[in-house]
Amino acid sequence: MRIGILTSGGDCPGINATIRGVCKTAINHYGMEVIGIHSGFQGLLTKDVESFTEKSLSGLLNLGGTMLGTSREKPFKKNGVMSGVDKPALIARNIEEMGLDCVVCIGGNGTQKTAAKLSAMGLNIVSVPKTIDNDIWGTDFSFGFDSAVSIATDAIDRLHSTASSHKRVMVIEVMGHKVGYVTLHAGIAGGADIILLPEIPYDINVITDVINRRSREGKPFTILAVAEGAISKEDAKLKKKEYKEKISKRKYPSIAYELAEQIQEATDKEVRITVPGHTQRGGSPCAYDRVFATRVGAKAAEMILEGKYGYMVAMRDGETTAVPLEEVAGKLKMVDPKCGLIKEAKTIGISFGDE
Ligand code: F6P
Repeated sequence: MRIGILTSGGDCPGINATIRGVCKTAINHYGMEVIGIHSGFQGLLTKDVESFTEKSLSGLLNLGGTMLGTSREKPFKKNGVMSGVDKPALIARNIEEMGLDCVVCIGGNGTQKTAAKLSAMGLNIVSVPKTIDNDIWGTDFSFGFDSAVSIATDAIDRLHSTASSHKRVMVIEVMGHKVGYVTLHAGIAGGADIILLPEIPYDINVITDVINRRSREGKPFTILAVAEGAISKEDAKLKKKEYKEKISKRKYPSIAYELAEQIQEATDKEVRITVPGHTQRGGSPCAYDRVFATRVGAKAAEMILEGKYGYMVAMRDGETTAVPLEEVAGKLKMVDPKCGLIKEAKTIGISFGDE
């Protein structure tokens, strides 16, 4: 068999380890031929590809980023490269011309959606979930998440000593797009006093009350971990369109800056902001993600051998499994505000800014 592999959407630690897992299994174990497709779906449109050998796969396990390159090209949308061209039809033609029996698509929610659409056209697709956000429906976790949590936790750890020395409020903004998994886990692991998630709208008065109460109790500093997509109770009442419009007119670069100003005004505290940004997506995958990536990579190759097309590899209850792409596409996995982790965090005194 001859298979293609591509990585699409935002990168994250563990992609190269996944490519290695797919390719080593496909080439060495099943005797398949593997073609690497550059820059996501863009490479499938332009036939920008390379042939992999066993040698191409050395040194990949702990390497950050993606050796194939990536792009946010969505072939079912009119924008992007080659506007005016029937991109899905071109992709189908190129797959046939290159003699690919299957294409492995490694990516986040956007990629799963595209993969599902290509599969619905009758193309042989197997996908692998990849994102630091952990927001892909159908899988308990995705690789990249644990590495990002470790990086954000380290950043929070480092804020404690300086926050305490200066008796300041430290606001750290954590990535995660529209969901709060990275913030929730890093916030708990780093010992944040307040954690704000998109799934639990906050009240600024609750936040300032916590900060003032801590001061009265002899803890003159506070660490606040806020998810980039966190939202106030007031804003959560707005219609989607109204909220989008409000955000587009916001005078602050991001939520951390808005909160910092509100806290500064309502307390006598000095506030400082930390935005680790893309450091959360860069560098080597942690040990957990290397193992995870190896497992989902090997499973993808096995699914191809079995002709199990139109499925995403998922990790459920610690085991790899296959979930139909049509079930995954278009859904967003969010933190359940009633989950055990949040209940337990509340019992140890962490505030989520809601009550
Ligand atoms: O999906 C991963 C992610 O890092 C999100 O957490 C973040 O909102 C977004 O990508 C940033 O995207 P970009 O790399 O395009 O700035």
